[in-house]
Amino acid sequence: MMSLRVGICDSGIGGLSVLKELYNTIPAEYIYIGDSLRAPYGNKTREELLQYTQELLTFLQSHKVDVYVSACNSISTLDTRELLNMLGIKKSDYIDMRDFAECAKGNIPSDAKMLVYGTVATIESNVYQEVFKEWSAHVLASKQLAYAIETQHQIAIDEEVDTLLDYVTQEGITHIFLACTHYPLIQDYLDIRFKGMGVTFINPAHYIPNVLHPQKGGRHSLTIFTTKTSEPMREYVSGIDDVVPVVIEL
Ligand code: DGL
Repeated sequence: MMSLRVGICDSGIGGLSVLKELYNTIPAEYIYIGDSLRAPYGNKTREELLQYTQELLTFLQSHKVDVYVSACNSISTLDTRELLNMLGIKKSDYIDMRDFAECAKGNIPSDAKMLVYGTVATIESNVYQEVFKEWSAHVLASKQLAYAIETQHQIAIDEEVDTLLDYVTQEGITHIFLACTHYPLIQDYLDIRFKGMGVTFINPAHYIPNVLHPQKGGRHSLTIFTTKTSEPMREYVSGIDDVVPVVIEL
């Protein structure tokens, strides 16, 4: 029986928040690549991001995946049409965080005061301002939260969450759209910091679109590749399954 092979990529450990949702709901052969060596992606130029995306997709291609999931908003908000064409990847075989965001829309009340919170690259792309234009969404970019999570730098996490809290309080935000896949990794901490404020966090990965069609009875497996291993990487991977990340060079 042929299994569906799903390739997932991110700048580092953030995409594990997406992988976890997929792995727990859809049986398939998962191949994950995190580019922790070059993280964070959110402060990189468009040219650098396209180059890294090409390398990540080429790597997944060499592992003969059927479907590609960009579990990185900083990549998902790039225009990758030309790149996909060049690599011979069909748009229908490429899922990105925008697809998840579109699915999340149906669950957001029309009177929500929304904030899109993401990396500089994601916010500057204007993609989510367009996706959530019905809500006239506020936006806030964080220069360091993704990397602080990647490296478990608690002081930097605190500083960034302080800034987020101030903004949310000042503007009366009711819904925060987590436009960086690293952020759901600290959801428990965010819940503590926002306790009693009545703020709803939206993790787009909870809205897995019905685009994967696994074969019944197919293999369910997980392989994790990274360009640099770290304690946070090992810790989050162990929260998904008992596998050891394999270090590779892109
Ligand atoms: N997790 C990625 C995102 O969703 C990248 C964050 C980063 O490396 O800056 O944007």
